[in-house]
Amino acid sequence: MPDDRASAKPAPARPYDGPPDYRLVGRHGMYPQVSHDEAERFNFLAHMNRHLASKVLPGVQTAFERRVEPAFTKENGPFKSRHEVRKALLKDPAFQIWSALRRATMEQRQQAGRWVTLRQAAELNAKALELTEGDDRLELDPNFDVPRYLTAVDHHCMPGSYHTELAYGDVTGPANYDSGLFATTGGALGRYNDGGGQAVAKWVRENLPDFQPKRILDLGCGLGHNVLPLAQAFPDAEVVGIDAGGPMLRYGLARAKALGVENVKFIQADAEDLSRFADESFDWVQTTMFLHETSKKAMEKIFAESARVLKPGGIVLHVEQPQYTDEMPLYEQCIRDWDAFYNNEPFWTTMHEIDLDDLMIKAGFKKDGVIHGGVAAVVDAKLFPSAGDDKVEDYGRKAAWHVIGATKSAEAA
Ligand SMILES: C[S@@+](CC[C@H](N)C(=O)[O-])C[C@H]1O[C@@H](n2cnc3c(N)ncnc32)[C@H](O)[C@@H]1O
Repeated sequence: MPDDRASAKPAPARPYDGPPDYRLVGRHGMYPQVSHDEAERFNFLAHMNRHLASKVLPGVQTAFERRVEPAFTKENGPFKSRHEVRKALLKDPAFQIWSALRRATMEQRQQAGRWVTLRQAAELNAKALELTEGDDRLELDPNFDVPRYLTAVDHHCMPGSYHTELAYGDVTGPANYDSGLFATTGGALGRYNDGGGQAVAKWVRENLPDFQPKRILDLGCGLGHNVLPLAQAFPDAEVVGIDAGGPMLRYGLARAKALGVENVKFIQADAEDLSRFADESFDWVQTTMFLHETSKKAMEKIFAESARVLKPGGIVLHVEQPQYTDEMPLYEQCIRDWDAFYNNEPFWTTMHEIDLDDLMIKAGFKKDGVIHGGVAAVVDAKLFPSAGDDKVEDYGRKAAWHVIGATKSAEAA
């Protein structure tokens, strides 16, 4: 047999399409210091995540199609649910390897970020206190009762979840969230992790060009990554972010001030009970990557409260990963569901199967006012050229989301 290896043309060089370097992240005045080795650890984890999504996960799909599905179907007939798919995949080594490594990178990312912030806790906490004490744009409630669905688990393996305060004024949790998010997203959210909020602002400008909100309420605002872009896009609006996590809010105001965003206020409150706000007092109610952290009962209350506080003609928008529909293959639903079972996101699975249109209509919105759209993170493409790489489908992690919302009918007034 002729050996044609010597004459074979070399494969054309492909540009490396890995995540950008960690050193490109935007270091605002509240950002923790990240040493050379710590940055490299985040770089390693970002590359590992990209490798898992682009090189290992396709192998899981092949294993599913060639081994798992045929074996299951032979014995039981076709899969009936994503849960059956997951249970069958759990026995397959391809899924086991991908899933174990994905979990391990998440745990490592949290421990890496935790160490970055704990070793400089005194400085970070002092800086946050200096920027926020006495500022009436921060309202914390020392008697706040954090909902059980938040205290029951450490969400996405994040030690202490969103609410834990190790000492008065502690912001090490949110500083970890902020500085380590790059490792999970590979820079796909941009320099300030705000590509989602920028995308929402752009979507509103393009789809509702006459909409000029005066008051915007963001529920579950976290440390404000996706709130500041709304405040920046509508500088004359008063923007209010509420969250259950006191440390997130303190860091949020400190970060906003460090970034020069002044028209935003952070309040510790439960999104299920917005009684501090009058009926029809906001033009826009926004939630971003928030609903999946709550519960079915909570969502019903949140939707009803959103309808109440909105002015007639106002809008509510929820940004989340896509809902599971009958059109979505069960394999894809199962992989998207991974976070519910292996990444401490207990409500993720139920939230993604709920009929959100129905829930909004039950909350008082009219069917013809329901809004559906899609957004993809807006990032600086020169700095993050491969961040929004469409070819890499990291189910449940991709920086592209569905927008589900409603306009409050003027007649409802
Ligand atoms: C995944 S984070 C998203 C944060 C932010 N929206 C963003 O886009 O970066 C979810 C946030 O929702 C908050 N949260 C969950 N349930 C809540 C509730 N009932 N009331 C207020 N905040 C809540 C958590 O404390 C957490 O900060």
